Amino acid sequence: MYLTNLFLKNFRNYHTLELKLNRNLNIFIGNNAQGKTNILEAIYLLSTGDSHRTNVTSEMVNWQQDSFYISSLVNKKEQEFEIELLFKNRKKEVKINDNKLKKLEDLLGYINSIIFSPEDLKLVKGSPSKRRKFINLEISQINSYYYHNLQEYRKIIRQRNNLLKEIREGKSSKDMLVVWNQQLINLGSKIITKRLNALDKLSILARLMHRKITDGLETLDLSYQSSLDLSKDDTTVEKIKSIFTEKLKTNQQKEIQRGVSLFGPHRDDILFKVNDINIRKFGSQGQQRTAALALKLAELEFMKSEIGEYPILLLDDVFSELDSSRQRYLLKVIENKIQTFITSTEINKLHKLEENKNIYQVKGGKVMETTYNG
Ligand SMILES: Nc1ncnc2c1ncn2[C@@H]1O[C@H](COP(=O)(O)OP(=O)(O)OP(=O)(O)O)[C@@H](O)[C@H]1O
Ligand SMILES: [Mg+2]
Repeated sequence: MYLTNLFLKNFRNYHTLELKLNRNLNIFIGNNAQGKTNILEAIYLLSTGDSHRTNVTSEMVNWQQDSFYISSLVNKKEQEFEIELLFKNRKKEVKINDNKLKKLEDLLGYINSIIFSPEDLKLVKGSPSKRRKFINLEISQINSYYYHNLQEYRKIIRQRNNLLKEIREGKSSKDMLVVWNQQLINLGSKIITKRLNALDKLSILARLMHRKITDGLETLDLSYQSSLDLSKDDTTVEKIKSIFTEKLKTNQQKEIQRGVSLFGPHRDDILFKVNDINIRKFGSQGQQRTAALALKLAELEFMKSEIGEYPILLLDDVFSELDSSRQRYLLKVIENKIQTFITSTEINKLHKLEENKNIYQVKGGKVMETTYNG
């Protein structure tokens, strides 16, 4: 899939911006604080309904204005459609070919995207919540049912936590837990199975990519670390449910004392190992970076296999950070088949690009297409 154009109105430091896009490579060059990331942020917002760097949508409204608008023509499986997002009166409104979507979350899946930014380099090193967010978004983009399950699950956790606190304070009886436990177990087990399944596929792809990037010297291994202490064979919903049930039974007192739900997908993590060493704890920065890159490339193939088409790829400030052999490898993967958006402060930080491309100069919220034969 690819975007043919992008239109921004009053988004961040852009008043009006209209860009014709290259279906292969789009490179944004400019000094710091000129608006390169803002363009990628707009595309990501159109793809997922959220920004990759803020939870506060109003921050993205141009300071002199009170609303913003983004639109794009998208080509997906040889079909073209228009997607529009308007943020006004603190609400996001999305239209596909002029038809208003009932819920913002229905937006997921129209533009499939993968973003790789300096933040993502922290995927390996950062807190478990980052890795949960990663796997959640990955599955949500291809399975809206999963997204609904997650929303529902979060509600249950909130209510169950309240109840646990009430029981601790003697305001509710333990019997009330039965109903909530059942819901927690049912939904939680479904979510875990979906994650196991996705991670299974992702880890095979990531290992392959990683081997190639490291010239076969290192082996990456991703595994799901569950708060339920699942073993490798515990992969069916039924099996997980029964372990979950047991876990809640033996730890009921502990959960009441703490007043929070201690077990379930909201407490799980993904373990990254290279040559059998936990690189979150012991990996070098380069190793963590390479693992993150391998995972991103795996995501591309994973999405391709799930939706039958490659997503678009947003590379914010990371391409120029890779050494030249990794840049070359990445370009080989993209190779005229994945629409890619790259930002960099200097064109000569980029490996010589032979590919079909557009290069844009970004300066103070204005964008000019330039010809540069790097
Ligand atoms: N809501 C807003 N309204 C107007 N301008 C904004 C708004 N939010 C951010 N900006 C401006 O946008 C610019 C930052 O844009 P962006 O993050 O895209 O920079 P960049 O070109 O990616 O820089 P870097 O190379 O440092 O990453 C800053 O000048 C900032 O003041
Ligand atoms: Mg930037």
